[in-house]
Amino acid sequence: MLKVGFVGWRGMVGSVLMQRMLDDNDFAGLEPVFFSTSQAGQAGPNIGVDVPALKDANDIESLKTMDVIVTCQGGDYTGAVYQPLRQAGWKGYWIDAASTLRMAEESTIVLDPVNRHVIDAQLAKGARTFVGGNCTVSLMLMGLGGLFEANMVEWMTSMTYQAASGSGAKHMRELLSQMGALHSAVASDLATPSSAILDIDRDVTAAMRGGEFPVDNFGAPLAGSLLPWIDKAMDNGQSKEEWKGGVETNKILATGANPIPIDGLCVRIGAMRSHSQAFTIKLRQDVPLDEIEDRLARHNDWAKVVPNEKDATLEQLTPAAVSGTLTVPVGRLRKLSMGGEYLTAFSVGDQLLWGAAEPLKRMLKIVRE
Ligand code: HSE
Repeated sequence: MLKVGFVGWRGMVGSVLMQRMLDDNDFAGLEPVFFSTSQAGQAGPNIGVDVPALKDANDIESLKTMDVIVTCQGGDYTGAVYQPLRQAGWKGYWIDAASTLRMAEESTIVLDPVNRHVIDAQLAKGARTFVGGNCTVSLMLMGLGGLFEANMVEWMTSMTYQAASGSGAKHMRELLSQMGALHSAVASDLATPSSAILDIDRDVTAAMRGGEFPVDNFGAPLAGSLLPWIDKAMDNGQSKEEWKGGVETNKILATGANPIPIDGLCVRIGAMRSHSQAFTIKLRQDVPLDEIEDRLARHNDWAKVVPNEKDATLEQLTPAAVSGTLTVPVGRLRKLSMGGEYLTAFSVGDQLLWGAAEPLKRMLKIVRE
């Protein structure tokens, strides 16, 4: 039986991964071993099959006994453990949620509904390092896969509306604390129908700017506002999140010497765990909208075309509708007034599912095939 070591299984992405594996009975037929950076020796989790006590996640000798290691522990852990493990001669499959190794030559970015052919080719070549993509990139490709598959995209911009979960669990809590603080600042006026909305707004803005407002994690108010910068700065004016959109998409699609230009602005908004994106797509030719819709809908089992109508959009194409599901709706599809080769679209996807845990879960299944 395949010995699979899990690291970082208690964190947010790791917990989603565990739940998805339990949902689909994925632990059956595996020999799962759970690692911990702080609680080695304690009992492993209850997953319906016997598991040994927790092993030390920093112990290279223990890690070396695994056929596969699946880690959601984060980039610092990958940075500390991956090279020593390989240098110690380990030839197992490393399946990782962190971005550290994504662009490394030896790594394959996994999103099998989109790039199963790339994954299979890499496996055939003996590749052993597989990394989940950036969440906005994976969600974009799940939604628009049909266009890329047909090589219809000449270039594209993606303007994102990214949820708090992309920054981590503490940030989700802080977003809710900020929402609560805003409400508390005006609760009595809000309960009085005759109160003036501009007075309420003034007090909300004052609360947001006040010294008591909880901003330790985001560094600025997000509730009632937005943050048009995600991750570090590159040296060309892009944020790192924006840079990833281009380089990771092209690596996933293995476009090689003919990369598709993809760029845009990444913005954090006050959604909890679903990222949204607005696209401007320059098509290579003027393809009829019904053919585009058909290709998008048929590309994979999770992409869902939402009619470009108000009721359907508000019902199906929002974080509130999508969070907690694997569906990646794509809507607002229409040709822009610039011409028939200019398409706009909007998509939403759960950042913790297709954006993080699901591609890893599926890669583990591929390794088992
Ligand atoms: N970097 C993403 C974000 C999440 O900040 O939303 C991880 O892919």
